[in-house]
Amino acid sequence: MALSDEFLQELKSRNDIVEVISSYVNLQKAGRLYKGRCPFHHEKTPSFCVYPDTQSFYCFGCHVGGEIINFIKKAENLDYIDAVKFLAKRAGIDMPKDNFKNNDNTVRQRRIYEINRETAKFFYHSLMSVNGTSALTYLRKRGLTDKTIRHFGLGYAPNSFKLIDYLRSKGFGEEELIQSNVAYVSRNGHLVSRFFDRVMFPILDLRGNVIAFGGRIMGDGKPKYLNTADTPVFSKSRQLFALNFAKNIQGRELILAEGYMDVISLHQAGFENAVATLGTSLTEQQAGLIHRYADEVIICYDSDDAGRTATERAITILRKTGLKVRVLTIPHAKDPDEFMKSYGDKGPVMFKVILEQSAMDIDYRLDKLRNKYNIATTQGKIDYLTQASEIIATSDNPIERNLYISTLSEKFGIEKSSIEERIAGKLKKAKFQQADREINQRKALTLAENDTINPEKKDNLLGANAEEYIIASLMNNPDMCQYIGSNIKTTDFVTAFNKRVFTFVMSRLTDGKSAELLFFSQEFTEQEIAYITAYVSENSAKHFSKSSLNNCINILKKESEQKIRKKPSEMSDDDVGELFSKYSKSKR
Ligand code: CTP
Ligand code: MN
Repeated sequence: MALSDEFLQELKSRNDIVEVISSYVNLQKAGRLYKGRCPFHHEKTPSFCVYPDTQSFYCFGCHVGGEIINFIKKAENLDYIDAVKFLAKRAGIDMPKDNFKNNDNTVRQRRIYEINRETAKFFYHSLMSVNGTSALTYLRKRGLTDKTIRHFGLGYAPNSFKLIDYLRSKGFGEEELIQSNVAYVSRNGHLVSRFFDRVMFPILDLRGNVIAFGGRIMGDGKPKYLNTADTPVFSKSRQLFALNFAKNIQGRELILAEGYMDVISLHQAGFENAVATLGTSLTEQQAGLIHRYADEVIICYDSDDAGRTATERAITILRKTGLKVRVLTIPHAKDPDEFMKSYGDKGPVMFKVILEQSAMDIDYRLDKLRNKYNIATTQGKIDYLTQASEIIATSDNPIERNLYISTLSEKFGIEKSSIEERIAGKLKKAKFQQADREINQRKALTLAENDTINPEKKDNLLGANAEEYIIASLMNNPDMCQYIGSNIKTTDFVTAFNKRVFTFVMSRLTDGKSAELLFFSQEFTEQEIAYITAYVSENSAKHFSKSSLNNCINILKKESEQKIRKKPSEMSDDDVGELFSKYSKSKR
């Protein structure tokens, strides 16, 4: 990476981590750090920490962490260089002029974006050519205007080898065409297009890159839709169709539909806040993505059984992220697209009406529950009320819960307190479970039972903790470099991982360079950086003192001696090596 240390430091100092993350996460000050709900996984109680002192972040729930560039990479789904550019732009700093080399991965992704863009262009031109007449007629028959077709960049994959010839003529090779999943090698060895004789829907990411395609057959053949498989630039469980448009709308409300055609119809009718999943059921990542752009989501799935089941599932996932959820049931039509069309010009107005009437998720679920039990019988009532309490307990808003409790108690003529009790029990259980999970997560971090980054920690807990404190002290007080260097040696480190970290930090410091987390990406993986961030930040949040440092140095020395005193038969080659270097040192 040819970005200079000076540039990276300038970048960091001009992008305060608390300020940057505040625009993604609602942060609350808690002592020397800030806490909030993690943007990378779903949680009700905050375990995402931002540490202004070390300009770093760490989530105790999902173990993501690092410095500002790591955050932007994840939050904006960018590679390293693009994350740097993003931050440079934010702070108004120019990128350095010299040509920095991209790593292989970035180059490969760039090529795939280019292939996809060229492919989308090719499909669009095919649609507008003589070959595309039947496809164009098909789309128009389905009510799409030319403007909509252009807006979404819809296309046609012809029944020929022309796409491959076209892409080859643009200089793309077989391997990268296969990687981008626009082509594959057929049984008789030819490179052929994945999509044949289909209407094509390009899928764009938030930066406007074409990342994948969905292709619909025009007749009744199977599969009805064929989608791009996951590639280095596309993960179907992490993207949403049309979010590239929907993210620009005013107001924090999104409509979640099931299909491409539904979304396109809705956009054409003026509901440009509609998005859809990409041929799979909703995932937690997609719910998180929705939450970045919305506070409220309206589920608008097909009105058949499959749609209803998917709705129940989606409610649970979306609720968990803290989103407000409403459900729109489409009357007299199977999906929003059909609804819109059945009303012709009045479609948009009619849809607005049903949108405004859409129910809160709890009302929707209570309604559905009502049909399940015969509430004329006592048992039916008991079952209904018991289940209803569980549904109401999914709300974390006491006012909302109270409203439902009142309604139910009036309707069934029973004491509010009995429903309240039931719900309180449910809530408590959920809270306890959450707390348990978090305690366990923290335990996992300190007790290192499932530690894959530093697997030796569990057998050398005392030593590893001392190592972590020493490394944290060193990183926060680089002027201690000499002191630490003359009091503890690399060979005293008992875990190989921390030894690697210590060696890296020391070598940078003794070269007169900075050893901030910012520079770790040259040497450590993302997971390793997150891990290091956690202990450096947690240790820095405690008070640093020279006596604690000396304490740790002594502990570590003792631990390493003990390790060396193992029976020779139990010693690894490394241990033996260390032993000899120890002896030669003590002789001096
Ligand atoms: N889907 C898919 N593969 C299939 C069928 C469906 O990936 N074989 C995905 C597509 O993303 C599709 C969505 O599931 O848009 C919903 O499917 P469906 O309701 O069958 O299609 P519609 O989008 O409603 O398309 P149309 O109106 O053309 O039937
Ligand atoms: Mn449909």
